Formats: sequence, structure tokens, C-alpha cells
Amino acid sequence: MNWNKRVRQTHRWVSIAFVVSMIVAFVAIAQEEPAEWLFYLPLLPLTLLLFTGLYLFALPYVVRWRGGRPS
Ligand code: HEM
Repeated sequence: MNWNKRVRQTHRWVSIAFVVSMIVAFVAIAQEEPAEWLFYLPLLPLTLLLFTGLYLFALPYVVRWRGGRPS
């Protein structure tokens, strides 16, 4: 598997982790004494999504600059 495919797969699966962490955060808010650190849980996958997403965004342009064809 090449590097670009790997980043796309990472982005796809981390997006699921992000959704799960959001659900956990919403359930935590509904509790009487919520554990505050749970509110910050989605920030971890979101940070990963930001960087892998920016990579995926730049990919077709970088390929074009190098004179290749974006797939
Ligand atoms: C945080 C900033 C984010 C950026 C900059 C970003 C950017 C991108 C880009 C550029 C693509 C590729 C589009 C393409 O060329 O087809 C992509 C795909 C995708 N994004 Fe994001 N994204 C972000 C966050 C998210 C979030 C929050 C989710 C969902 C919870 C998400 C889910 C997905 C999925 C499922 C794909 C398709 C992946 C695939 O092709 O297998 N992204 N994103």
C-alpha cells in the first residue's frame, strides 16, 4: 500500500473514531457530574483529521506541480 492510500485510510478510520468520541462526549454531558476530560476527547482525532485532511487536500495540486496526473 502506498503512502497516499495509507493517509486516506487513516483519515477514513480516524473520522469514525472522531464520531465515536463525539457521542461519548455528548453522553458525558448528560451525566450529573461529568468527567471534564471527556469533553476534550474529540480534539485528539480532530487534530489527526486536520493534518491528514490537509494532506489529502494538497495531494492533487502537488501531483500536478510535479507534472503528473491526479488520480
Ligand atoms: C478537520 C479538517 C478536515 C479536513 C481539512 C478534511 C479534508 C478532507 C479531504 C481533502 C478529503 C479528500 C477529498 C477527496 O479528494 O476525495 C477528505 C476525505 C474524507 N473526509 Fe475529511 N477533512 C477534515 C475533517 C473530517 C471529519 C471531521 C470527518 C468526519 C467525521 C471527515 C471524513 C472524511 C471522509 C470519510 C473522507 C473520505 C475518505 C476516503 O476517500 O476514503 N473529514 N477530507
